[in-house]
Amino acid sequence: MNFEKNILCIGAGYVGGPTMAMIAWKCPSYKVTIVDINPSKIVQWNSDNIPIYEPGLYEIVKATRGKNLFFSTDIDKGIRESEIIFVSVNTPTKTFGAGAGMAADLQYWEKTARQIKNSAESPKIIVEKSTLPVRTALAMERILASPDSGIAFDILSNPEFLAEGSAVNDLQNPDRVLIGSRETPGGLKAREALVEIYTHWVPKEKIITSDIWSTELSKLVANAFLAQRISSINSISVLCEKTEANISEVARAVGADSRLGSRFLNASVGFGGSCFKKDILNLVYLCRYYGLDVVADYWEGVVRINEYQKERFVLNMLSTMFNTLAGKKICLFGFAFKANTGDTRESPAIYVARRLVEERAELVITDPRALANAETDLSDIKDRISFIEDPYRAAAGCDAIAVMTEWDLFSGLDFERIYTQMSKPCFIFDGRNILDHERLFEIGFNVFPLGKSALKHF
Ligand code: UDX
Ligand code: ADP
Repeated sequence: MNFEKNILCIGAGYVGGPTMAMIAWKCPSYKVTIVDINPSKIVQWNSDNIPIYEPGLYEIVKATRGKNLFFSTDIDKGIRESEIIFVSVNTPTKTFGAGAGMAADLQYWEKTARQIKNSAESPKIIVEKSTLPVRTALAMERILASPDSGIAFDILSNPEFLAEGSAVNDLQNPDRVLIGSRETPGGLKAREALVEIYTHWVPKEKIITSDIWSTELSKLVANAFLAQRISSINSISVLCEKTEANISEVARAVGADSRLGSRFLNASVGFGGSCFKKDILNLVYLCRYYGLDVVADYWEGVVRINEYQKERFVLNMLSTMFNTLAGKKICLFGFAFKANTGDTRESPAIYVARRLVEERAELVITDPRALANAETDLSDIKDRISFIEDPYRAAAGCDAIAVMTEWDLFSGLDFERIYTQMSKPCFIFDGRNILDHERLFEIGFNVFPLGKSALKHF
């Protein structure tokens, strides 16, 4: 079959996979190829067991795979054959050298730029999909436009706003699609080519076009603002616990102000995920680089509150359970960084699990989707941990349950049955405020919600 356009995506991860599947589904006349350096990932994408759990994604992949959606390891061929190349390789926080722990590690990104330059035989539009520090496009332009190249490349920034667990809906009905380009004739033409793809399903008024630096920065700022809301409500959760105010009531009252809105006001044991912390630290690094220490300190505070929230959750468990956790058995309900995903990157559960093991507790972890990742994350301490998918079996014989992830399945469990099988006195620490606390108290649990008074039998 002859396709109207050939689109390539480099990086078959949480961003590249779902985004390209959606483009293939909505644009049947385009050929979409996704490549990755990791051959086992490509094998999985080509199987019935795709490498990420995302509700509704497998159905779309199945409907398009082999028709106009292809997964491959042949990156050079993919580059040669495509006119538009999305890049969604990972950009983790640097762990070494200057900017370690703060700046983005751009080595995968730069390798990709060089590979594009070496394999390309015709002009290409390169689309930054991964979240990147502001002005990365400039570095990309410099690599691609070196004198030995002789080929025209236009760089666009098109940051992804999908959230895991709701990626399919976010991609299908985005609040906005943001496309930044150089404001040169070539840049504007490239921008139009990308707008044209999205207009297959996104209303034109939701497609925002802008300059490239504002676009890159907007992604960092959007994530920083979202994370800031969570840190704001989490900072108030501790005050509620001291004053007998109720965080859910406060969030309801605050969120009813249409200027503020009600979303992203759920107090939690802390935000996780691959983006929030990384993007804020990126922003902080950028501010420090330009000598804007006051601004940097302001945003760094969002991360500090998040660390504080995780730490105080553990300390509360410790002090409540008579100041010793040694030899006690604690069940973590959930390990994913949020519900409806198996992803555990930066999950607060990682921190909590490690701290509890430091206190010499024995852990049982249950999660409907994230147990394989949990085992990898905790491989160095796994002799102290059992991984059990059935929550009833997981909680049996435990002294305490700590809710880490807001999976619906947890609120629907039979807690009377769970109670009878646990050691007494037994405790529930609800790090997501998803359970019926009054009911649990009536059953006999000592209940410790976040940002609300504890319900105790002693
Ligand atoms: C985020 C952004 O939402 C998305 O636009 C961007 O593209 C990538 O980063 P994601 O990390 O997948 O998406 O999930 P999100 O729903 O934003 O949740 C992030 C973390 O915040 C999770 O750990 C979640 O449990 C937590 N959270 C969210 C809260 O603790 N309280 C809330 O009210 C909302
Ligand atoms: P994200 O959440 O940003 O999508 P992931 O880690 O899920 O991040 O995905 C990034 C993908 O990019 C990984 O599958 C990784 O193997 C792939 N990758 C990294 N470097 C390269 C490269 N040079 N060429 C092709 N793929 C790459």
